[in-house]
Amino acid sequence: MEYTTLGKTGLRVGVAGLGCGGGSRLGMARGLPRSESVRLVRLAMDLGVNYLDTAAVYGTESIVGEAIKPVPRDQVHVATKASIRNGMELIPVGDVVASLENSLRELDTDYVDVFQFHAVPPALYDRIREEYAPALLREKEKGKLRHLGLTETPPNDPAGEMLIRASQDPVWEVVMLGFHMMHQVARRNCFPGTQANGIGTVLMFVVRSIFSIPGRLEETLAALAAEKKVPDWLGTSDNPLGFLIHEGGASSVIDAAYRYARHEPGADVVLFGSGVEEHIRTNIGSILRPPLPAEDVARLEALFGHLEGVGLDLPEPRKT
Ligand SMILES: NC(=O)c1ccc[n+]([C@@H]2O[C@H](COP(=O)([O-])OP(=O)(O)OC[C@H]3O[C@@H](n4cnc5c(N)ncnc54)[C@H](OP(=O)(O)O)[C@@H]3O)[C@@H](O)[C@H]2O)c1
Repeated sequence: MEYTTLGKTGLRVGVAGLGCGGGSRLGMARGLPRSESVRLVRLAMDLGVNYLDTAAVYGTESIVGEAIKPVPRDQVHVATKASIRNGMELIPVGDVVASLENSLRELDTDYVDVFQFHAVPPALYDRIREEYAPALLREKEKGKLRHLGLTETPPNDPAGEMLIRASQDPVWEVVMLGFHMMHQVARRNCFPGTQANGIGTVLMFVVRSIFSIPGRLEETLAALAAEKKVPDWLGTSDNPLGFLIHEGGASSVIDAAYRYARHEPGADVVLFGSGVEEHIRTNIGSILRPPLPAEDVARLEALFGHLEGVGLDLPEPRKT
C-alpha cells in the first residue's frame, strides 16, 4: 500500500480505501454470509487498506466493527455517515446526533475517525453548514468523532454544485465526491478548493456500474453520440475505450478507471466497493500502479472532459 495524508486531518491513509456501501455492500447485496464479508474486510486490511468507508444506511457498520476488533484502534481509520434527509426534508439535527451514537454502537467503538453528513444536495447545504455542523462539532469536542465531513449526492447533483461551495469552506476536513473517466467535473469544481483549504478528498463512483456492468459503457456512449456529446465512432464501437488497453497502458477498462482516479491531482483516497476477493486484490493492484500514459489521460480529457453527470447511477446489486 501507498499512504498519503488526508488533508488537514493529518490521518495517514492508504490511497486505496474500502467502500462498504455501493452496489455491493461487502457482498451483502448478493447474500454473502456475514462471516465472509468480515473476512473480506480483514483481507483488505491485510493488503494494507486502513480507510474503511461505511454509513448508517449501508447495514455494514457491525461487519466493519467485527472486522477491526483484532486491530489496534489507531491502526485503522473508520469513516461513517448519517442520513440528513427524508426526500428533500431535513431530519431533525437530534436524529443525526442519535445516528452517530447508533453508529458507535454498531461499530463497537468509542469514536469514528471521520463523520460525514450523507448525500447533501445543494438546496440543503446552507442549513447543514449553519445548523447541523455546529451540533456535530460539539460531539467532536466530546471525542465521538475525530474529523467532520460531508458527501455529495452525484445522481441528484450531476454538476457537483454542493461541492463548489463546500470545497471553499474550511469547516470541512473531508469531502467525498464522485469522479471518474467520464465525469471529471471535480477537476474544475472541487479539487482547486479542497487543495487550497487542506480538505481531504475521498473518491467514489470511480467504477460503479458504467465500467463494471457489461454493455453499460457502450449503451451510455451510444446515447451520448446520439446527442452529439461525443464523436460518432464512440457510439458505434463495441470496445470504445479499447484505446486505453495496450502495452505500457491499462490492462482493462476497470484497471484504467482506478488508475485514472488515483493519479488525479487532488485525489487522496480512491474507494473501491466489492464483495469479491479477486476484485479486492486486482483493484488494490490497479490503484497502486503508475499513472496511465500521459497521452491516454489527455485523450480522456479531450473526449469526456466537458461531460457532466454521466454514469452516476444509484446502486445496482450484482446477480453473480
Ligand atoms: N453519497 C455517498 O456518500 C456515496 C454514494 C455512493 C458510494 N459511496 C461510497 O463509495 C464506495 C465506492 O463506490 P462504489 O460501490 O460505487 O464502488 P466502485 O468501486 O465505483 O464500483 C464498484 C462496483 O463494481 C464492482 N466491481 C468492483 N471491482 C470490480 C472488478 N475488478 N471487476 C468487475 N466488477 C468490479 C463491484 O461489485 P463486486 O462486488 O462484484 O466487486 C461494485 O458493484 C461505496 O462502497 C460507498 O462506501 C458513497
